[in-house]
Amino acid sequence: MSLPRNGALKQLEQSHMKIGMIGAGNIGGALAPLLIAAGHQVDVANSRGPASLSDFAEKTGAHPVTVEDAVRDKNVIVVTIPLHAIPALPAGLFAKVSPETVVIDTSNYYPRERDGAIAAIEGGMMESAWVAREIGHDVVKAFNMIYAKSLAELGKPTGDAGRLAIAVAGNDATAKATVISLLDAIGFDGVDAGSLEDSWRQQPGSPVYVKDHDAAGVRKALSEASPERTEQWSATPNSPGSFDAPA
Ligand SMILES: NC(=O)c1ccc[n+]([C@@H]2O[C@H](COP(=O)([O-])OP(=O)(O)OC[C@H]3O[C@@H](n4cnc5c(N)ncnc54)[C@H](OP(=O)(O)O)[C@@H]3O)[C@@H](O)[C@H]2O)c1
Repeated sequence: MSLPRNGALKQLEQSHMKIGMIGAGNIGGALAPLLIAAGHQVDVANSRGPASLSDFAEKTGAHPVTVEDAVRDKNVIVVTIPLHAIPALPAGLFAKVSPETVVIDTSNYYPRERDGAIAAIEGGMMESAWVAREIGHDVVKAFNMIYAKSLAELGKPTGDAGRLAIAVAGNDATAKATVISLLDAIGFDGVDAGSLEDSWRQQPGSPVYVKDHDAAGVRKALSEASPERTEQWSATPNSPGSFDAPA
């Protein structure tokens, strides 16, 4: 029997990845069935423990686990929880996660509605750079600029006209390539949006944010973005309010 060559091994790894997901809300619920349909194993965790995820497991096919197990021995980990909850993750959760594991951060900063003031971000730090610092592991920012409903319903086969695209920002080219190939497998084009420092181009309020563009449209919208944080996306002394009554 001959062993597969390196390239073939790589392909094998890509075709069946062990994916951990922290967060089983709108984005987790949209993403898990797509990743499972693409042949990947998805272990999912929330803040309330695996027993609370039986309905989610039945609907999506994901395997409920603790947050500790969601990060153990994975090729890819998706962190998809409200930004303000990042510091509530167990201390040292990512300490034993390999630097080669690709960690995807889907989060957005909604200071007035949900997250309250996060001083480092108000001071100019990029949201995903803050997430990376908080968890102690590099991240790739993806899925933040598409609505969960579009993610769940609007995927198309590779090459179809009007296929939607998702911006992918990060500092590690190999990690971004993994995310872009995952996107392709679940029905979306990935557009390299530069480094985490460039990720203001895909933040809430930017031209690309929740607009359902194809790849050319995403590239154009990214190029038209403006870096300043507007008042609408900055905290006030009373933040957070709610999505119905932002403070
Ligand atoms: N909704 C969208 O269309 C959309 C689009 C793009 C990006 N995003 C961003 O993606 C992130 C997730 O959004 P979402 O709408 O999916 O959120 P969501 O529906 O509110 O779900 C949040 C999930 O996070 C879990 N969670 C909260 N705190 C946790 C903790 N400390 N440890 C483990 N799990 C925890 C919750 O579990 P419990 O219920 O057990 O607490 C829940 O499963 C947010 O940053 C959001 O801004 C959302």
